Amino acid sequence: MATMDNLAAAFAGESQANRKYLAFAKKADEEGYPQIAKLFRAAAAAETVHAHAHLRVMNGVKSTADNLRAAIAGEGHEFQKMYPEFVAEAEKEGNKPGLASFKNAMAVEEIHYGMYGDALAAIEDSKDLTSASIHVCNVCGNTIVGNAPDRCPVCGVGKERFFEVQ
Ligand SMILES: [Fe+2]
Ligand SMILES: [Fe+2]
Repeated sequence: MATMDNLAAAFAGESQANRKYLAFAKKADEEGYPQIAKLFRAAAAAETVHAHAHLRVMNGVKSTADNLRAAIAGEGHEFQKMYPEFVAEAEKEGNKPGLASFKNAMAVEEIHYGMYGDALAAIEDSKDLTSASIHVCNVCGNTIVGNAPDRCPVCGVGKERFFEVQ
């Protein structure tokens, strides 16, 4: 089943290209190249189209209940196994920026794991989650239902670093 493996590899690659190009667009804007920034954002959007097409063909999008189960498994793996191993290696190697990046992500994946669990419980009760704003920290990714806190409980930055998700 080479094509199924290839779809998975292409999905991973296109997903990475999307995030990389968005970071490159931000840099191009900072360096005063707005049209090159636009080109990076356009290519990033196209890579998202490709990634989603590959994912659909792989049957990677199911019912929301099943999608939540998949998301819970992914977040659980990340904060229970993957990031703890990465944190330990970064500590051993004395890579402080790597350590901080992994620790932020590990803390927030655990939060996502809990939020997705709440969402799945709501669906199993035939409900959506209660309507509320959701804020994300643009330093560590901390995800908070309701108003942004004065200080991020994961990374310590002020509330002005949070943005609201629509
Ligand atoms: Fe997450
Ligand atoms: Fe944070």
